[in-house]
Amino acid sequence: MALSSVFFISILISYYSVKSYGEELNTKKFPKDFMFGAATASYQVEGAWNEDGKGENNWDHITHLVPSPILNNDTGDIACDSYHKYKEDVSLLKELGVDFYRFSLSWSRILPSGFDNEVNQLGVEYYRNLIKELRAHNITPVVTIFHWDLPQTIQDLGGLQNDFFIDRYVDFARVCFREFGEEVKYWITFNEPSSICYLGYGRGWLMGLASSPGIGEYLCDHNLLRAHAKAWRMYDDEFRKSQNGVVGISISGDWIEPSTDSSADLEASETLLQFTFGLYIHPIVHGDYPEVVRTNVDKRSVLQGFSQSRLPRFTQEEVQLIRGTSDFIGINMYTTSLVTPRGSDNISDISFEADTGVTSWKPEEWENSGSSWLKVYPKGARQLLKWLGSNYKGVKLIITENGYSDNNGTLEDDKRISYYQRYLSNIRDAMEFDGVDLFGYTAWSLLDNFEWISGYSQKFGLYQVDFNSPNRTRTAKKSAKWYSKLTRTKCIVDDCTE
Ligand code: NOJ
Repeated sequence: MALSSVFFISILISYYSVKSYGEELNTKKFPKDFMFGAATASYQVEGAWNEDGKGENNWDHITHLVPSPILNNDTGDIACDSYHKYKEDVSLLKELGVDFYRFSLSWSRILPSGFDNEVNQLGVEYYRNLIKELRAHNITPVVTIFHWDLPQTIQDLGGLQNDFFIDRYVDFARVCFREFGEEVKYWITFNEPSSICYLGYGRGWLMGLASSPGIGEYLCDHNLLRAHAKAWRMYDDEFRKSQNGVVGISISGDWIEPSTDSSADLEASETLLQFTFGLYIHPIVHGDYPEVVRTNVDKRSVLQGFSQSRLPRFTQEEVQLIRGTSDFIGINMYTTSLVTPRGSDNISDISFEADTGVTSWKPEEWENSGSSWLKVYPKGARQLLKWLGSNYKGVKLIITENGYSDNNGTLEDDKRISYYQRYLSNIRDAMEFDGVDLFGYTAWSLLDNFEWISGYSQKFGLYQVDFNSPNRTRTAKKSAKWYSKLTRTKCIVDDCTE
């Protein structure tokens, strides 16, 4: 290329690109019909844990234990008090200019016993009012049916590890579609299966405190996938025609970056992606578990002396049942890990980690957030979307969570803005250069809220919440103003090129 044209192109590049933290930002607008939203989840914001007939759930149970396993003995008893302040929340969403609000339903608020023998009308009314308020402000409700709060009656019976869960979940989902489906057109069956199953039943951090590594998570996965598929088919048979909505699921995981470009590290990356994303998306798209997951767990189970694999098998009917049961796939993305194969396999180690055959970590030197698991690595967003787009062609994708935490909840949250900007730039790149079919993006979270076992110590909100005040006063952070400009202009920099 002639020198003059190199010069011209480099001028063009520097003119059209903007920098944040030394990284080039994509200056193209998001498409007109691209949807921007914000999210929360019932237990993390609602409070009113025992009001108006609500039953006890696993989080009420865990947080009330003495001694408490939660940092600072925090509970969600009041949380952001959104049960009483939902109108104010909707006014904040309005101020943000979002197209949609992703929130979740509290199962034990709607079915206090956990079962469908009694529907709590006051609980139903709360969500009806919230949905009505959203619609009055032109904000689309995107509703997660299950975001980690399980009636304690069901958890006591083993929760998702017990296959009786499947039909109980379908019963609950039916009540949700029946009660809210006239007004709700976007449904998410489960939030983050791998957190529920691996952190929940493998590690004992999320659903209850008991753990059964290498066994519990696979029982949970197996039941969750069948519950998801049955609920999707039930919607299809009983509601789709009259309600005309879509039903998907939100899957989470890190982008897994090979630690070197050796073929062993590339293979390790592919394996771990299959054990996190593939474990769920593969059955939903193709009907069964990814081959590497099947092979690894089967092989290690035999060597460990089990007469059957720790990873259960789907019957042929179940393969048919599960295949093709998602109208879209939601992706919760925050961070990246590096990976390399494990040196040797300690066969007595019965665990999910050992089954993967790889080791992953996040380098110390990567930029920190307020959560030890969340290192900032914007390029991972593009890589992950590219991997998903090329492995699951034709699947519609939406980012159902992305966000940044700090510990002080500062209103001058430039680091959060920079995180959003750099992640969104990579997301825009994936759409522009890798042909990824993405129709929306969700900021986690609307509000600072109860961050599970970390209590209120990690703050993800666009709005600060004063947890010391009985009013739970909400105040816009600088990022809320930035996000509201984005929702209006579809542009992540000051001025977009087109
Ligand atoms: C995952 C979960 O869906 C949400 O509940 C949590 O607060 C955020 N990500 C941040 O950890």
